[in-house]
Amino acid sequence: MLSIVILAAGQGKRMQSDLPKVLQPLAGQPLLQHVISTAKSLNPRAIHVIYGHGGDHVRSALRDAPVDSWVLQAEQRGTGHAMQQALPVLQDGDLALVLYGDVPLITPSTLHALIERAGSNALGLLTVMLRDPTGYGRILRDEAGRALAIVEDKDASPEQRQIREGNTGVMAVPVSHLRRWLTALKSDNAQGEFYLTDIIAMAVADGVEVHPLCIDDEAEALGVNDKLQLADVEAHYRRRAARRLMQAGVTLMDPARIDIRGDVQVGRDVLLDVNVILEGRVVLGDRVTVGAGCVLRDCEIASDTIIHPHCVIEQARVGAAARIGPFARLRPGADLGADVHIGNFVEIKNSRMETGAKANHLAYVGDATVGARANIGAGTIVANYDGAQKHHTTIGDDAHTGSNSVLVAPIVVGEGATIGAGSTVTKDVPPGGLTVARARQISLPAWKRPKKSAQ
Ligand code: UD1
Ligand code: CA
Repeated sequence: MLSIVILAAGQGKRMQSDLPKVLQPLAGQPLLQHVISTAKSLNPRAIHVIYGHGGDHVRSALRDAPVDSWVLQAEQRGTGHAMQQALPVLQDGDLALVLYGDVPLITPSTLHALIERAGSNALGLLTVMLRDPTGYGRILRDEAGRALAIVEDKDASPEQRQIREGNTGVMAVPVSHLRRWLTALKSDNAQGEFYLTDIIAMAVADGVEVHPLCIDDEAEALGVNDKLQLADVEAHYRRRAARRLMQAGVTLMDPARIDIRGDVQVGRDVLLDVNVILEGRVVLGDRVTVGAGCVLRDCEIASDTIIHPHCVIEQARVGAAARIGPFARLRPGADLGADVHIGNFVEIKNSRMETGAKANHLAYVGDATVGARANIGAGTIVANYDGAQKHHTTIGDDAHTGSNSVLVAPIVVGEGATIGAGSTVTKDVPPGGLTVARARQISLPAWKRPKKSAQ
């Protein structure tokens, strides 16, 4: 059976940040969250996380993550020392897969391949060919190509530093052997640490086979130690997500200018213009078009809808063949039917708009139900908040609210009613007809403008 140990106790000094390294965000989620998700996808018996630096913060940020045991490494004395802390929770007979909390792009398929190489008397070691291996442990092999040992960058001789095959840190090790090797680790090296990597030479000495798996895609092995590497990993993540969308049939105007930070489901012939950000769970129906600069978070957009540029849509649903924006904001609870039109500088919050309803310019609709084909005039404000409570507004089918009207909730506007421009409506409006609630216009022909007094 497979048990996974994620090493995540390191401080990450080079981040220059108060946030523990493994909580630094990649695509909007903590680095460690990505590693845990990958681990979970392998269906292990258990996932153990070794944590230490910023411990409480790490645990509370990931309290909902599927972790079986959080193991504290109070003092960070190296990766071997970190693994020693896991020994009490590991079972003999299991295979332990070691992952790093700061190496987030490893794919499940690579890990499957690595696990297949390991066995009760064989260790799987994931290595990578690097253009610049600085900082990585190097893989030492004999003439026959067998892996013999790992030498850390700081302990390597100038010749060993020429080796381009680096240690990813990921390995699959039979627990019974691991127990024995970890107890024999020494810290007589350049960093005075207990190196997990020393177990490779021990395996070789014990006649346990070491099966390296060398990956070509450097990105998978990228470790995050500073903000530069964090940006690098983010860029790789972005490219990967863009590629996945294109493989699903989405047209991206520029695959380099799109950010996907979550789980996106798409229909056929979806088009995304540049600088679109999709976060959380986003569902886009067939032929949906999203204009430049839109941010969509946790929302569903039905088929044939066009989102014009620069809209922000969060926790909202939009029906089929709707037109949204440019510059519209749909806030949580906005629920728009088919053929709804929302224009520029319109904000909708916690409101249902039925089929064909329109709010084309400069309006606020909050805590309301807007009937089919109703027209919210330019400058209409639904005054939903009395300073203490929120109240509901109901606007009937085919009603029209005039420009610059204020509807003071709670209020019901009847079907087919028309509200005159500039009205402040505080009482229910009967169906049909015209309701005007503003001072009458008067003209004073004899009125004279005051003159400036002479100084
Ligand atoms: C490690 C490997 C190196 C490899 C590189 C790949 C060792 C000795 N070296 O080096 O061969 O090429 O990763 O990225 O293993 N951690 C703990 N407790 C500790 C120390 C570290 O949990 O006491 C965790 C860190 O949080 C991190 C991981 O282990 O997630 C790696 O530690 P780090 O200090 O970054 O190791 P590297 O020097 O990068
Ligand atoms: Ca590292």
